Amino acid sequence: MKVLGIESSCDETGVALVEVLGAGVPRLLGEALHSQVRMHEAYGGVVPELASRDHVRRVLPLAEAALSEAGLALADIDLVAFTRGPGLAGALLVGAGVACGLAAALNRPTLGVHHLEGHLLSPFLSADPPEFPFVALLVSGGHTQLMRVNGVGRYELLGETIDDAAGEAFDKSAKLLGLGYPGGPALARLAETGRPDAFELPRPLLHQPHLDFSFAGLKTAVMTAVKKLGPHPTDIQRADLAASTQAAIVEVLVRKSLRALEQAGLERLVVAGGVGANTVLRASLNAACARRGVRVHYPELRLCTDNGAMIALAAAMRCQAGLATSRRDHRFDVRPRWDLADAGWG
Ligand code: KG4
Ligand code: ZN
Repeated sequence: MKVLGIESSCDETGVALVEVLGAGVPRLLGEALHSQVRMHEAYGGVVPELASRDHVRRVLPLAEAALSEAGLALADIDLVAFTRGPGLAGALLVGAGVACGLAAALNRPTLGVHHLEGHLLSPFLSADPPEFPFVALLVSGGHTQLMRVNGVGRYELLGETIDDAAGEAFDKSAKLLGLGYPGGPALARLAETGRPDAFELPRPLLHQPHLDFSFAGLKTAVMTAVKKLGPHPTDIQRADLAASTQAAIVEVLVRKSLRALEQAGLERLVVAGGVGANTVLRASLNAACARRGVRVHYPELRLCTDNGAMIALAAAMRCQAGLATSRRDHRFDVRPRWDLADAGWG
């Protein structure tokens, strides 16, 4: 079965083709991606209306590019999948509308996919795919969650952020440091030359036994530190503050992930979502997990941030698992807010 996946929940338009044969490992046949980062840069963040309009412009040429990479024609597609939520309503509607229009023209079924399920399953396209069950650390711009994943569609929420997401903490701190959008990679770059212990920043909820996160206090502490540095901080001071901020976020994510593994009695960890691209997070998790005999799985670096491959993959794996939620009437809705733990959708 060949699945076309369309991602348009935020500022990336992604289209990809994934194939599954029986119970075999899913294979990525072709993919194309356009990032709107340059367009939103001038505004310091994503402008939803601009995002929607750009998705409209990009999605069909990207579909053609993905098909051509795969050496396939539209008629070869068996199922059209799209991101149903969560995300920006207008942006989601573009992907959903195009997916359902295409499916109607081809007389194929459609399947609306949960964006976080896409992130969560994305390591299954890597050279070292995980086995169920595992603990997943989902760290993106809008979400920070620890889940126990028992199988496709069987997700148990273990803990989540009570305020800002980890990606948001990166983005907001980066803004305070005068860095551009998206802040995560920019802050990580600045941090490369800084000392992670130069500033004493809070590790909120670190010593609580539960698995929830809180990053809003960290942002306030970074704001206070920036004010103390005055209007003309040196490059060294900025790099030190960036490195200290990154260290605080990473320490909380690593410690809570280990606690989740312990509490769940599992020895496999999957890290997914944009912040999963962070090299310091990867290095710290690898070291901490190696000490405990825990295996860590990541998606390929380019599949950490939003893309169409993870949407096609999640749809393919849902079909493989017999979770038949595809529909043939070509009607659709989007769910800008949608809980993954509430994944028993129809
Ligand atoms: O998963 P994603 O592409 O989009 C959402 O679904 O939110 O994640 C985007 C988030 C942004 O907050 C971005 O700053 C962060 O991931 N991010 C990073 C890195 N690359 C992306 N944060 C830290 N270090 C990175 N290398
Ligand atoms: Zn995402």
